[in-house]
Amino acid sequence: MISHHLLLCATPSKALCCPDPAVGAASWDTLKRLVRELGLEDPQRAEGIVLRTKADCLRICAEGPILLIWPEGTVYGGVTPERIERILREHVLGGTPIEAWILNRMSFSAPAAGSASAP
Ligand code: FES
Repeated sequence: MISHHLLLCATPSKALCCPDPAVGAASWDTLKRLVRELGLEDPQRAEGIVLRTKADCLRICAEGPILLIWPEGTVYGGVTPERIERILREHVLGGTPIEAWILNRMSFSAPAAGSASAP
């Protein structure tokens, strides 16, 4: 079971999304490290595992680096290594979003039960 999938766009290719590539790279390194150190990738974790993916673009393209928490759809902007740590501890682990850093909330719809197609 997956509890959260954290998608980070910290691409230096679009200056508005990630004006300082060094901050984007450090945020990604911090995300990877903390997910591992906090045991969030443990398949035995009762709440489900936490995945992390470096995305090339999340269609926000401003006020980045951008962190999207799927499936709930929370979009954080201005991510830094320090913000990554607080988001993981307070939002992902603690269940309390940090409202001041939220840019947007996206809505994702889940497929209806039994609608998945066979391979
Ligand atoms: S380039 Fe980062 S969201 Fe589009």
